[in-house]
Order: sequence, then C-alpha cells, then structure tokens
Amino acid sequence: MDFTLSEEQLMIQQAAKDFAQTELLPGVIERDETQKFPEELRKKMGELGFLGMMVNEKYGGSGLDTLSYVLAMEELSKVDASASVMVSVNNSLVCWGLETFGTESQKEKYLTRLSTGEVIGAFCLSEPEAGSDATSQKTTAIDNGDHYTLNGTKNWITNGSSAEVFLVIAQTHVEKGHKGINALIVEKGMEGFEIGPKENKLGIRGSDTHSLIFNDVKVPKENRIGEDGFGFKFAMKTLAGGRIGIAAQALGIAAGAYELALKYSKVRKSFGTEIANHQAIAFKLADMHTKIQAARNLVYQAACDKDTGKDYSLSGAMAKLYASEVAMETAVEAVQIHGGNGYVKEYHVERLMRDAKITQIYEGTSEIQKIVISRSIIKD
Ligand code: CAA
Ligand code: FAD
Repeated sequence: MDFTLSEEQLMIQQAAKDFAQTELLPGVIERDETQKFPEELRKKMGELGFLGMMVNEKYGGSGLDTLSYVLAMEELSKVDASASVMVSVNNSLVCWGLETFGTESQKEKYLTRLSTGEVIGAFCLSEPEAGSDATSQKTTAIDNGDHYTLNGTKNWITNGSSAEVFLVIAQTHVEKGHKGINALIVEKGMEGFEIGPKENKLGIRGSDTHSLIFNDVKVPKENRIGEDGFGFKFAMKTLAGGRIGIAAQALGIAAGAYELALKYSKVRKSFGTEIANHQAIAFKLADMHTKIQAARNLVYQAACDKDTGKDYSLSGAMAKLYASEVAMETAVEAVQIHGGNGYVKEYHVERLMRDAKITQIYEGTSEIQKIVISRSIIKD
C-alpha cells in the first residue's frame, strides 16, 4: 500500500501539529492536574475543524478522509490525549454514527452543531455490568407509543458532563437479546437525566468521564437511530471505525514519547558521553522507532480500508491492538530513558505513560480486539 500523503493531508497534519504545540502544550500539565478542559479550547478545536473532520461540508464538517483524520489524531495525541479523545469520540462515534445512520431531520437538528464544535457529543454503551460484554445491556428503553421511557445507568462516559448530545444504547425488547436493542439520541437537560460525579483517573485526566443515570427519561420516538432493534449493530459498526481513531491516538502517544526520549538522549550525558551513545539506550530507541513505524502502517492501512470502502473491522482491531501495546511499551521506555526526570511532570513522559494505558482498555480492551481478530480470521 502506498501511503504517500497528498498536499491536503500534509497540510492537515501540519495544522494539527501547530495547534498541538501552540494551543495544547502550554496548559497540558495544568489540565492533567486540575482535571479540567476549558470550553474555549474545545471551541477553538471546533473552529479549526477538528471536531467534524469527516462530516460532509453540508453539515458543517470538513469533508475529509479517514487518513487525514488519523494524521490529525496522531499529532494531537503526541501532546494531549485528553484533547484527542474528545476529538475521537465526537468524530468517529457521534458524528459518524449520526451521519451514516441518522435521519435527515436528526442530522439537521444535531449534526451541524456537533461537527462545528458548538456542542460536543457522547457515546453511551458501557454499563456497570456491560463493558466488554456489551450485549448484556440493563438500561431499558420501553416503547410507550410516541416516546421511549429510558431507565438505567451508563458507566465511564467520555465527555459525560461537557456533552449536550448523547447517543444512548438501551434494551427495548428483552426477549430478542441484542436484536432488541435501540440507539437513542438523548439531550442534556431532559427530565430525569442525571450526570454522576467525575471519575478521578490515572490518565487522560483532562477528559471528563462520568456515569449517567436515567430515571424515566422520555425520549421522543423520532430520536431513535435506524430501525427498531438496530441499536447493537449501530454500536458495533460505529465502534469499528472508532477503533481506528483510538489506534491513531495510541500511535500519537507512542510517537510523542519517542520524540521526547530521542531528544533527551542526545543531550543528557553520563560517563562522559550522551546517553544515546550507550548501546542499551540506542537499542531502546531502535525498538521504539521500528514498532512505531509498524503501528503507523497498521493505522494507515485501516484508515485507507475505510476510505476505499473495504471492510475495516479486522484492520481497525489489529491497528488498535498493536498501536495500544506499542504506546504502553514506548511510554514506559521513554520514562526509563529520562531517568529521574522521567518521573516528574515537567518532562511530560510520565503523563504519556499514564495516558497510554487507557488505549488498551477503551473502545474494546486488547483481549476484546483479539476476539474480534481471531473470529474474523477463523471465519475466513
Ligand atoms: N459490524 C456489524 N455487526 C457486528 C459487528 C460489526 N463490526 N460486530 C458484531 N456484530 C454483530 C454480530 O454480527 C451479531 O449480530 P447477528 O447475531 O445478527 O449476526 C451481533 O453484533 C452480536 O455479535 P456477537 O455474537 O459477536 O456478540 P458477542 O456477545 O460475542 O460480543 C464483542 C461481541 C465484539 C465482544 C462485543 O461485545 C464488543 O465489541 N465488546 C466490547 C465493547 C466495546 O468496545 N465498548 C466500547 C465502549 S465505547 C468507548 O469505550 C468509547 C471511549 O472509551 C472513548
Ligand atoms: P470488563 O469487561 O469487566 O473486563 C475486565 C477484564 O476482563 C479486561 O481485561 C477484559 O479484557 C477481560 N475480559 C472480559 N471478557 C473477556 C473475554 N471474553 N475474554 C477475555 N478477556 C475478557 N464506554 C462507553 O460506552 N463510552 C465511553 O465514552 C467510554 N469512555 C471511557 C473512558 C474511560 C477513561 C474508561 C476507563 C472507560 C470508558 N468506557 C466508555 C468504557 C470502556 O469501553 C470499558 O471500560 C471497556 O470496554 C471494558 O469494560 P469493563 O471496564 O467493564 O471491563
């Protein structure tokens, strides 16, 4: 596969790099400590088009391909994975899900506001008893004629308190199992919809993660996405693309940690020479560089599969599995290369190490990616 980037793709990559350096880097340590992400910064990401990258221009998006999106995700994630998870959820779960499966009136009502960053969205599948085992939904959406009555709890929802639009997966026909699940558009402020306290996390601390509680929330029927019972398929199809975004996030974290480690190893001296001259350090850098390039190839391949209309659930799962393992490994080694400095916040690598871990957990753990991959190759 030829991954020569077009002029436009190079421009987007550079724009994301510039934004990450000038706007994200200055406050990244503070956001990690305070667990707050300023609304103005999110609005700036919207104004620059990062929140609706693949959405058709007709709905306020940038109309770009998936490869451009992963290039931007990689650059943003090198500096701030809390910002990039917001970008990933809004682009590949919320906007893509709505644009691909929503009705025209749903798109008019929600998509333009989401793709321009006027508001952001959340994707709500996980529950206390339904994480990896996503078909075990306990949240119910009972059909009451012109509306659904929503009851239950969602866990770990990214953008939980900052989002205005929530795509909520819930069980309508229990007897039909996963074929009786629906996806509903829920708005912040609907009566009976409560947002739980913010989770105090290991990493991506600038991203707001909350549980959501639904007590008899009336959701109009016109807010259902797709046919009755399409909700689980909706979630799976949407997540297949979402995983490419998280794979790109993992790639960015790995590349960011590697770049810092390489730079540091060329200035830090021990035993009369730069530490990069010690083979133990040089070989770590060689391993990092090689694995990052391999991860990048998998991520680009998955993006190109999506752009060329090929099936991308296998390539997306492989990209996420591998890139997230590389992110974790690379970030740990980057801390090691920094020695004691690696353990303090100012050098950024300890944060990248904490942020890397989540990429092995959300949008399907590494074990779940292996289930998706193995089922696909065995079936074929
Ligand atoms: N596309 C379309 N349909 C799909 C599909 C896909 N990629 N994957 C599965 N399906 C369909 C299956 O075909 C099946 O439908 P039929 O019975 O009609 O054929 C149905 O979904 C159920 O599939 P399985 O029988 O394979 O279901 P399972 O119970 O064995 O579980 C699983 C499959 C892949 C493990 C799934 O439960 C899963 O992906 N779990 C992980 C959940 C996850 O990724 N959560 C992420 C939450 S969002 C998030 O995390 C965001 C964030 O952090 C930022
Ligand atoms: P479990 O499913 O309980 O898994 C526990 C362990 O068992 C894992 O190692 C898992 O891999 C392993 N395991 C489980 N089943 C199997 C099996 N069959 N074979 C082998 N191993 C298995 N969810 C959303 O819906 N929306 C969001 O926006 C969102 N954002 C998140 C943000 C953060 C910061 C976090 C931490 C989570 C987020 N999640 C979100 C939830 C996330 O997707 C789940 O945490 C994840 O899918 C795992 O589910 P679980 O936590 O219930 O773990």
